[in-house]
Amino acid sequence: MTGFASPAARAAFIAALPKAELHLHIEGSLEPEMMFALAQRNGVRLAFDSVEAIRAAYEFSNLQDFLDIYYQGMAVLLTEQDFYDLTAAYLRRAAADNVRHVEIFFDPQGHTARGVAFADVVGGIARALDEAKGRGISSRLIMCFLRHLSEAEAEATLDEALPHLHLIHGVGLDSSELGHPPEKFARVFARARGLGLKILAHAGEEGPPDYVWQALDVLGVDRIDHGNRALEDDALVQRIAGDGLTLTVCPLSNLKLCVVKDLAAHPLRAMLNAGLKATVNSDDPAYFGGYVNANFIAVADALDLSRDEIIALARNSFTGSFLAPEDQAPHLAAIAAHG
Ligand code: HPA
Ligand code: ZN
Repeated sequence: MTGFASPAARAAFIAALPKAELHLHIEGSLEPEMMFALAQRNGVRLAFDSVEAIRAAYEFSNLQDFLDIYYQGMAVLLTEQDFYDLTAAYLRRAAADNVRHVEIFFDPQGHTARGVAFADVVGGIARALDEAKGRGISSRLIMCFLRHLSEAEAEATLDEALPHLHLIHGVGLDSSELGHPPEKFARVFARARGLGLKILAHAGEEGPPDYVWQALDVLGVDRIDHGNRALEDDALVQRIAGDGLTLTVCPLSNLKLCVVKDLAAHPLRAMLNAGLKATVNSDDPAYFGGYVNANFIAVADALDLSRDEIIALARNSFTGSFLAPEDQAPHLAAIAAHG
């Protein structure tokens, strides 16, 4: 074992490090227990009759399998209070993992299509984020467009967001990747950039390297979500490394969605070795089996990550965040104190 007396010692080292989480879909933090409680509170009928039955349904063979269940699950979220409760629960889990900064995705189209007011979605999430500030957790909120829907629908969503832009820091692109390349959304992302928003996109999770090129060249992303398949193209790796772009990697998500066949085959170390700024994140922790520390520990065990590699991942989570450098500095100093 590289520099650790035991797996337990490595897990304790990981748990103690300050970390940022940069790839987290708030709707993907909806635990079955809360799904049940909200279904009751809101009078929503679920397709499952117990928490155990919900958990048993979480077997996926690809991204679409997961998304079908994810959109069903979010149907219990109806009120501002629901979005507050969901976000507050995630923030308690994050705090327990020593996560000090979060950059959270939300999928407004998954809610407004069901008649939920945009203001209730963003308001509930933002209220919980604001409260967490007082407990030392900083945050940014990122609105995602669902790529299986049209660009016109993304434009309408950006219109709806306009009165709330003081709460929204960036826009991302998620949902079914294959068949929905970034260039489908060129115009709406150009408008978002013009509004001063940061630009992100899921790319190279299931989609080919060409989709990552498009995220860079057409959308002008500030960060790449996943990016696994970028490793298939050396010129692309050089470009991402040269631009200093961060990849938000999600090991347990990759495992559950069969992006990798097992964690020992995970490309995380290859990314670091290629000079890519990789980070470790939980994506949809209620569905994929763990929050940030569980992701770190699982991949560190499978790849036998060293102390230096783990520290690099924790540092990348802050340097790849949208925090100002002066706000990153205390976290980086705290990590250095663990080195
Ligand atoms: N990929 C794409 N879309 C998503 C994901 C993901 O892992 N999670 C929630 N929406
Ligand atoms: Zn994601």
